Amino acid sequence: MDTRTDSRPSTGYLTDVAYIPGFYPNLAPVALRFVAALNRVAPPPGDRFRYLELGCGLGRSLTTLAAARPHAEFVGVDINPEHTAIASREIEAAGLGNARVITAGFGDLPADLGTFEYVALHGVFSWVAPEVREQILDVARRHLAPGGLLVVSYNSMPGWAHLQPIRGILRQYAALRTGDSLQRIRDALAYLVFIRDRQAKYFVDNPNASAYVDALLKQDVRYLAHEYLNEHWTSFYFAEVAGMFAGAGLTFAGSLPVHTNFWDLCVRPEFQELFRTTTDRLVTEAHKDFCANTAFRWDLYAKAPRLLAGLDERLAVADDIHVRLTRPGLALPYQANLGVVTSTLQGPVYEALVARLSAGSLPLSAILADPRPAGASRDDIARAIDAGVATGLFDLSANAVPAVSPAVPDRVTLPSRFNRAVLASDALGGRPVALSSEVTGTGHSIGDLDAAILLELVEGGPDGLAERVDGRLASSGRSLLREGKPIGDAAERLRLVGESCATFRSASLPQLVQLGIAAGA
Ligand SMILES: C[S@@+](CC[C@H](N)C(=O)[O-])C[C@H]1O[C@@H](n2cnc3c(N)ncnc32)[C@H](O)[C@@H]1O
Repeated sequence: MDTRTDSRPSTGYLTDVAYIPGFYPNLAPVALRFVAALNRVAPPPGDRFRYLELGCGLGRSLTTLAAARPHAEFVGVDINPEHTAIASREIEAAGLGNARVITAGFGDLPADLGTFEYVALHGVFSWVAPEVREQILDVARRHLAPGGLLVVSYNSMPGWAHLQPIRGILRQYAALRTGDSLQRIRDALAYLVFIRDRQAKYFVDNPNASAYVDALLKQDVRYLAHEYLNEHWTSFYFAEVAGMFAGAGLTFAGSLPVHTNFWDLCVRPEFQELFRTTTDRLVTEAHKDFCANTAFRWDLYAKAPRLLAGLDERLAVADDIHVRLTRPGLALPYQANLGVVTSTLQGPVYEALVARLSAGSLPLSAILADPRPAGASRDDIARAIDAGVATGLFDLSANAVPAVSPAVPDRVTLPSRFNRAVLASDALGGRPVALSSEVTGTGHSIGDLDAAILLELVEGGPDGLAERVDGRLASSGRSLLREGKPIGDAAERLRLVGESCATFRSASLPQLVQLGIAAGA
């Protein structure tokens, strides 16, 4: 039976295939507050805020954040009842009293919904009909509190320009096929590979599009159905989106991830003049997208923002954010590949900062206090911290994080009911597993094999750990890969699982203990 008409409600968004769960750290309030403050916009204060996610899907970002911020209230909205039913079950299983989901279209929200300090929408804006985008803007007008922040992600130009026909091919071919959206996207992908491998001229003329097909083949087909088969699909220029949100009374307040706020970390040095001579941030963003060929953006907008005059005002409103070393033992010079640019951090200021933060996280004011690292000026130290966060040398936390303890517990527990539920459902699920930290106020992802190791460690302790994880692996159907190929030999697989268990216990487990995700039993 052709279910095409059933799969698309009046909004044009497909509903016959459920989406996949995913946690996106760019949606975390601690990240949004930092980016706002970095861009001289006062973020909402404190930890007793309200947070609304539009198009929350299966709700995994919402629940991970709700578990990490117990004093805040989280509300998710989605039109697909299958999605909200899954999210509700997970909320219940985790005992999250501060999260709920509503099954509704954006134009049909409850009258008493109230206002929120944060509104978030990821994977929604580019994929909905123009009238649904208008509804989203209306939600921003009515439900974002003054001084509140809204984060929106979307497919952007010019990065999508040479790939746009891929979406066209997939959708047109899928429309000719029968079955549900999963079947039709599978058929369309097979067709795409067929014409690519036989060197259709589009692929010959666009080698990047040809390589992109290989990236598509590695994706979950449920994701591909949602990405490509919706009736509406648009990639925007930054200025178009900024214009739409300006119409809803919102001002651009920066972008995520953090490095995208620094043009010199996004474009090659030969473009420097273009940026030095431009003071208008909206123009800078447009330059940046062309110089970096940006295909996806995460923008932050603020309603009635209070602008911060300088470092002291920033400290006055955002000094509850802690800065920590991303991993213990990070050595200088530290190099980060940020796509177009590779950035290297080194020198006495960074040496002093790494030494100081090795003893545990600190708020910016404490880092700037006398004696200042390497005797540098306060502004230079603040800039070094911002660059360290942008490049991943440092990370952010909503609360103080202790130093990593070298003592690795033999037996561990998981204090959070949410994390216990996530591990039980997602270990060996084939995608990263995000665990929630009340310490940092956000989620932290581990591999799905590490998730199984942690689960076995919690349930059965360290004795025979590798054998138990290997048994779980064998019965799950998930294969262990080496150089992209499944390992068939059982003894070899057990040896590799044993290595993974040892690495997990010596390297990852101490960090999970540091973040309060795991604890000694
Ligand atoms: C690609 S998914 C993204 C889900 C989630 N934000 C994530 O990143 O995992 C887009 C979601 O928006 C929801 N959606 C689409 N149109 C909607 C509308 N008009 N009102 C409410 N939700 C809608 C879909 O049901 C879907 O769950």
